[in-house]
Amino acid sequence: MVLIDGKKIAQEIKEEVAKEVAQRKARGLKTPHLSAILVGNDGASETYVGAKVKSCHEVGFESSLLRFDSNISEEELLNEIEKLNNDPSVDGFIVQLPLPKHINEQKVIEAVNPAKDVDGFHPVNAGKMLLNLPSFLPATPYGIIQLLERYNIETSGKHCVVIGRSNIVGMPMSVLLARNSYPGNCTVTITHSRTKNLKELTLQADMIVAALGKAEFLTADMVKQGAVVIDVGITRLPSDKTKSGFKLFGDVKFDEVAPKCSYITPVPGGVGPMTIMSLIKNTLQACRNKD
Ligand code: GUN
Repeated sequence: MVLIDGKKIAQEIKEEVAKEVAQRKARGLKTPHLSAILVGNDGASETYVGAKVKSCHEVGFESSLLRFDSNISEEELLNEIEKLNNDPSVDGFIVQLPLPKHINEQKVIEAVNPAKDVDGFHPVNAGKMLLNLPSFLPATPYGIIQLLERYNIETSGKHCVVIGRSNIVGMPMSVLLARNSYPGNCTVTITHSRTKNLKELTLQADMIVAALGKAEFLTADMVKQGAVVIDVGITRLPSDKTKSGFKLFGDVKFDEVAPKCSYITPVPGGVGPMTIMSLIKNTLQACRNKD
């Protein structure tokens, strides 16, 4: 069994991007600039955005964080997005989700110029991904693709079962694994909460992507010997075994599933660290696109 080290690969990518940014600066090319909009004071969102800004500094990007009160109107927020769309110094930007209930998230997603949509959430980017055209890929599926690639994991002709059909993970992951490319060329089964025979399907899988958001859902009896298991879950639950009083759980019951796997991602330290690097790579690409 090989433990896929997302932390190590994310560090490698960080160093590669930092090198390219330094070369760009030396050649007088533009320094990539990522902006983030954060609305309100949600603790998890603060942490995520803080980590994104920190990574920007580490690779030599410019970054800017625009904070707004949770009572900002939808119209005002759309105005701020338009300013970023029109600001030539900003290569890419994200609007951290979730947004307060009075703001229509889909309207916000569609207000972002697709050329600056480094989250890959705009329907134009989703459509381009579906058609195998160059686009910004959403962070989590892109991170998983990079892990499969860096570990040279064979995907062609493999049966992959994706558990979960969210817009930001399950659906795009299924599309990417089915594309005619590497990693890709999988036979993909998309499963979800209405799937009746899930265990029957996962037992046939050469690869399982667990992205349903239920702690320790995937158990050893659901996994074929030698399978590749990718765990996208992060559920924070109270625990008396840690100093903080909390522990992170994936969607996979790691201790019993790992011995059956050819490759498996741990939680934490698997898919998680890769997601910010996807955003960083998309921002670098957005900047290159303007060279
Ligand atoms: N909230 C949780 N994940 C994400 C993400 O990848 N992008 C944005 N904008 N918000 C999020």
